[in-house]
Amino acid sequence: MSALLDALRTALGAGRVSDAAADRSRYETGWRYGKGEAMAVVWPSSPEQVATCLRICGEHGARVQPIGANTGLVGASNPDASGEQVVVSLERLNRIVEIDPVDRVAVVEGGVLLSQLNEELAPLGLMFPIDLGADPQVGGMVVTNTGGTRLLRYGDVRRNLIGVEVALPDGTLAGRLHRLRKNNTGLDFAQLFVGTSGRYGIVTRAVVQLAPRPRQTASALVAASDGTAALDLLRGLESSTGEFLTAFEVIGREALEITLRRGANLRPPFQGELPDYAVLVELSSTLDRDRLDLESLLEETLVAHAEDDPREGLVDVLVGRGEDFWSIRHQITESLREEGKVLAFDLSVPRSRLAEFSDEMRARLARSHPFVRFCDYGHWGDGGTHLNLVWDPAVVDGDPERLWGELRELVYTTCVEDFDGSFSAEHGVGPHNQMWYERFVAAPVQAVASLLAEHFDPAGMLRRRG
Ligand code: LAC
Ligand code: ZN
Repeated sequence: MSALLDALRTALGAGRVSDAAADRSRYETGWRYGKGEAMAVVWPSSPEQVATCLRICGEHGARVQPIGANTGLVGASNPDASGEQVVVSLERLNRIVEIDPVDRVAVVEGGVLLSQLNEELAPLGLMFPIDLGADPQVGGMVVTNTGGTRLLRYGDVRRNLIGVEVALPDGTLAGRLHRLRKNNTGLDFAQLFVGTSGRYGIVTRAVVQLAPRPRQTASALVAASDGTAALDLLRGLESSTGEFLTAFEVIGREALEITLRRGANLRPPFQGELPDYAVLVELSSTLDRDRLDLESLLEETLVAHAEDDPREGLVDVLVGRGEDFWSIRHQITESLREEGKVLAFDLSVPRSRLAEFSDEMRARLARSHPFVRFCDYGHWGDGGTHLNLVWDPAVVDGDPERLWGELRELVYTTCVEDFDGSFSAEHGVGPHNQMWYERFVAAPVQAVASLLAEHFDPAGMLRRRG
C-alpha cells in the first residue's frame, strides 16, 4: 500500500493523496444508502491525472471507487466494506472548458457541479435542463443517467449527452468530445457509459446539449380527487398546452400531509381537507410575457378542464406562487425521513397504469403490512413514482431485515411483474439494487453488460465487493 501511495503522490503531488481518516470519512457514507471504508482518497485535477491514477492503481492491483458530489441514492459512489479501494474524488476536476452558444453545447470536466454550469449559462440565456433537488456533478449525472423533475420536457441525461471522454481502467483516455447531433456511424460510444454506475470507466469530460432558458414560467398546484383525475389532467394538458408543459409532479395525500407538517416555512396550500393527489404543473416558454401570457393560459386551461371533466376530478386549482409549490415538492424526501423508518422505492410503470398501480399497491400493503404508511409522490408525467413506505419502528416487532425483504419483494414483484414497470426508474442500479438487477433484467442484456465490463476492466478494478 505504501508503494501505491508513494507512486500516486509522485504523480499527483503530495497534497492530492491522503489516507488520513479525516479525509476519507466524508466519502465513506452515502446520502441514503452506501457505507464502507476507503484505503485512501485522491483528488486528480485533470483528465490525464485521472487516467494516471487508474494506471497506477492497476499496476499495484488496487481497486478504485470514483465519487462525484455524493448525492446518489443507490450507494454507487461510496467504497465497499473491504477498506481496499482508492477513492477517486472528482471535485477538483471542475473546469468548464467551453460554452458554445451556436452549437448550443457545453464542454465540461466530469467534476463540474450542475449549479456551477447553470450559473455560468444563465447570462447567456442557456441552461443544462436537468432539474433536481440535489446538486450533482456532471460526470456522476452521466453514469447515473439523472432524470429529475423536467424530464417530461427535456429528457434525461442520456438524451442530452453528445460526447464523452472517459478514463479507462487501463490508464488511457478514450472517447470523442464531438459536437455532432447527428452521427450515424455505428455504436454511440458516449451512451455506453450512461447509467452504468461508473462500472466501465470514469467520465473525465462531457459534451452536453443546452436548452434555451425560458423567459417565463407559470405554475399551478391542483387538487385531484384521485389518481385517475391526475392522469386525465396530464392528458388534457398535453393535448392543449403540450409544447409548454415542463413538469407534472404528483404528491399523494400522506406525503403531502407529512411534508406540510415537517417542512420548513410551508403553508397549507389548500383550504380544508387535503386531496388524494396534489399535482404540481409547470408551463414554461422562451416567449416574452407580452407576446404570450402563460399564467392566463394555464389558468384558463385548468378551469376549462375542470368544467369539462364529467368525473369532476379537480377539486381545487391554485395558479401562481411557483416557488412555494416547488418548496413543498423539494422537501418531501427529508420530511418523510424525519417521520419514521422509510423504505424508499424509485419505480416507474406505464403512465396509463400509475393510478391503478398506486391503488393496487396500497391495497396489497394494507392487507400484508397494515402498519405501513403509503407515501407516494413523483414524476407522473414520465411514469415515475417514488413510493416511500413509512412506519414507526417502535410499533414493529421482529427482524427489521426480514421486514425490508418482505416489503421489497412485494413492491418489486407487483411493479415489475404485474405492471410491466421498472425497479429503478431514475436513481440507477448500484449495489443497492444489484440483486433486483440480477433478477429482473433480461439475461441477454446482463450478458452484454458483463462482456463490456470484461472488455473495459478485465482485472475488475472498478468492481465492488459486496
Ligand atoms: C425526487 C428524488 C427522490 O424526485 O428523485 O425527489
Ligand atoms: Zn425523483
